[in-house]
Amino acid sequence: MHTLSAAGLVLEPLCERHAALMWPLLSDARLHIHLDESAPASLDALQQRYRRWEAHRVSPDGQAHWLNWVMRVQDHAVGWLQATVQQDGSAWVAYVVGTAHQGQGLARRGVQALLDHLRRDHRCTRALAQVEAANGPSIALLQALGFEPMAVAPHPLTPTERVYERRLESPHA
Ligand SMILES: CC(C)(COP(=O)(O)OP(=O)(O)OC[C@H]1O[C@@H](n2cnc3c(N)ncnc32)[C@H](O)[C@@H]1OP(=O)(O)O)[C@@H](O)C(=O)NCCC(=O)NCCS
Repeated sequence: MHTLSAAGLVLEPLCERHAALMWPLLSDARLHIHLDESAPASLDALQQRYRRWEAHRVSPDGQAHWLNWVMRVQDHAVGWLQATVQQDGSAWVAYVVGTAHQGQGLARRGVQALLDHLRRDHRCTRALAQVEAANGPSIALLQALGFEPMAVAPHPLTPTERVYERRLESPHA
């Protein structure tokens, strides 16, 4: 993994030392309303999670790459990006921007830089995102980036879950 940049944003491969920077941002329960994961229980728990992620960037069966970045603006950590790159050329993406930093186009720029990287360096041909139907900001972000809802999701969903897809060969890429 290497550092990526996007108009005023730096995406650093996530490692254990980022936990102290991310803890104040991620301990905000409002961020987790629509997420599967709840806020980390403590800084120590976040450090352990990041240590695991840093040590395991490939799934146990070797079939998927697990990639995580911290989004930084100068010295400030403003968010987090995640991609699960599969062997069929698909990548699942996920994103969080700290409450104090939302509404400034950071997710749009960060996720676009991630999509460019996935297409260019991992030869991904499509990106997928799973989202709760009530998560308006996330759906607005996906639509702004050219994602569309999938009629048939690649796995079973709960009644409130949706999967969005974007082809990475498209002119948006
Ligand atoms: C979803 C999230 C990452 C968006 O981050 P952000 O940096 O505020 O988004 P941006 O400022 O880049 O906005 C991107 C687009 O979405 C739209 N948007 C963002 N928040 C919005 C809101 N609350 N209501 C309506 N539109 C919104 C913006 O208008 C923009 O569209 P435009 O470029 O056409 O104007 C952020 O709200 C978040 O972290 N939420 C909590 C975590 C989460 O739910 N993650 C997604 C899990 S699937």
